[in-house]
Amino acid sequence: MRRDWLHILAERTWTVAGAVSVRTKILGIILALIVILGLGFTLQTRTTMASALRFHLQEQSVTIARDVAARAADLVLTDDLFELHELLRDTVQTDRDVRYAFILDENGAVLAHTFDGGFPRGLVNANACAERAHHVTTPLATDEGPVWDTAAPIFGGRAGTARVGVSEAGLRMTLNRITAQLALTTTAVALIGLIVAGLTWILTRPIRALVEAVNAVAKGDLSRTVGSWAKDEIGVLAEAFNSMTAALSKANEARAERDRLRGQLLERVVSAQEEERKRIARELHDETSQALTYLMVGLQGLREACPGAESQTRLDELRRMTAQTLNDVHDLAKELRPPVLDDLGLVPALQHYVSDYRTRYGLVVDFAARGLEGRRLPPTVETALYRIVQEGLTNAVRHADPSAVSVLLEGRNGHVRSLIEDDGRGFEPEDSLESTAHLGLHGIRERVELLGGVVTVESGIGAGTSICVDIPLETCGDGEPAGDSSTTGPRGREKRDD
Ligand SMILES: Nc1ncnc2c1ncn2[C@@H]1O[C@H](COP(=O)(O)OP(=O)(O)OP(=O)(O)O)[C@@H](O)[C@H]1O
Ligand SMILES: [Mg+2]
Repeated sequence: MRRDWLHILAERTWTVAGAVSVRTKILGIILALIVILGLGFTLQTRTTMASALRFHLQEQSVTIARDVAARAADLVLTDDLFELHELLRDTVQTDRDVRYAFILDENGAVLAHTFDGGFPRGLVNANACAERAHHVTTPLATDEGPVWDTAAPIFGGRAGTARVGVSEAGLRMTLNRITAQLALTTTAVALIGLIVAGLTWILTRPIRALVEAVNAVAKGDLSRTVGSWAKDEIGVLAEAFNSMTAALSKANEARAERDRLRGQLLERVVSAQEEERKRIARELHDETSQALTYLMVGLQGLREACPGAESQTRLDELRRMTAQTLNDVHDLAKELRPPVLDDLGLVPALQHYVSDYRTRYGLVVDFAARGLEGRRLPPTVETALYRIVQEGLTNAVRHADPSAVSVLLEGRNGHVRSLIEDDGRGFEPEDSLESTAHLGLHGIRERVELLGGVVTVESGIGAGTSICVDIPLETCGDGEPAGDSSTTGPRGREKRDD
């Protein structure tokens, strides 16, 4: 219980002490040291001096009592009460610590005393030594504090006793004066300590400047430098910090330039790739398809010109193969660059693609588009998303063996998002996005990053795969709504700049 309490106290103290600045800590340590040393020294001095002075007071009390006893012997024997009284008065007046003095005869009766208002009752018996041959000192409690009462025998006690009371009041005053002086000295030293500790700002100011600069750098401001005050360790640290931020800033600029160049190159590669696909698709459509159609027409003419059954069977076979090749070329051209993407936009193009995919692979594919009704997106975004969905669906059928696949396209809050999911066998996606060995996922990431977006691939063995792509539209220029004939409608394939 007590340990818990101590533990809590220590923790709270450290919470407070740990949160204050270095300067305050130094100030606190110096002050605490001065106060503890000052108090310890004062207390020890007071205790030592008190016991020394008290001993001295007792000695003084004994000396005075014995002196009075010696000087009073004749006067008691001659019964000279007047001189006896004078002796006692002299004794009290000579030493300001002596509070009273009185003489008792051998029977204990008071012969003379120095009390103006009558002899106090009980004082005679307060220090009983009349019978003894030696002096006895006893402390008596009074209103002004202890009084050391010494009884000294006169003629070995046969002629009575001399009693003297010496007060501690003077001693206590002296002690208090010394203590006050010591406390004053401690305060003065503490003040000097405070002033000296206050000068620690010379040390802490450059450290504070360093801390501020480090915080600024942590927030990405590499332009911050720290002024060097002196050539000490902190000055060297400040210079090292400045060199470090300068080097970091240079490295950042170089990296930004490299990223810019890489982005430009990538953009060119992607657009060249799309151009090339477009060109090949057009070539296939305009040249190869035309040639195959011409071939089919020629074969038809030949069939009519050659009536032989065997020739006709061969020509039919050739015509069937040519028609199949024509279909394949047509599909290939569509795959390379679907005209519907340029003419009608992303959603219809994907609807076509998904419907072909369903038929080709016999898979359940759920396709939904939200928030994009009647809208055209920037051409670069449409092409990128088309290729991303294409890659996602191709991967699903190539690697996942799924029973169902879904594609969701959504335009919301100035962003367009696409989610491609399958319930297939899944994989460990950690390195696949970084890997350049496989081009599909890597290509998705590059296309998305070029458009300032983010891509998240979630998968696991046996857990299916989901690819989520989020592209901001403001950085790529929003698309225009369909319906306005001046800006929408089929977009000319030649006008697309991707
Ligand atoms: N939907 C998926 N289900 C299961 N595994 C997948 C899926 N998508 C990708 N993978 C795994 O991730 C790897 C990388 O895919 P990625 O598309 O980058 O390359 P790839 O399909 O193998 O080749 P390509 O470069 O022709 O696309 C694949 O080889 C496959 O192992
Ligand atoms: Mg792939």
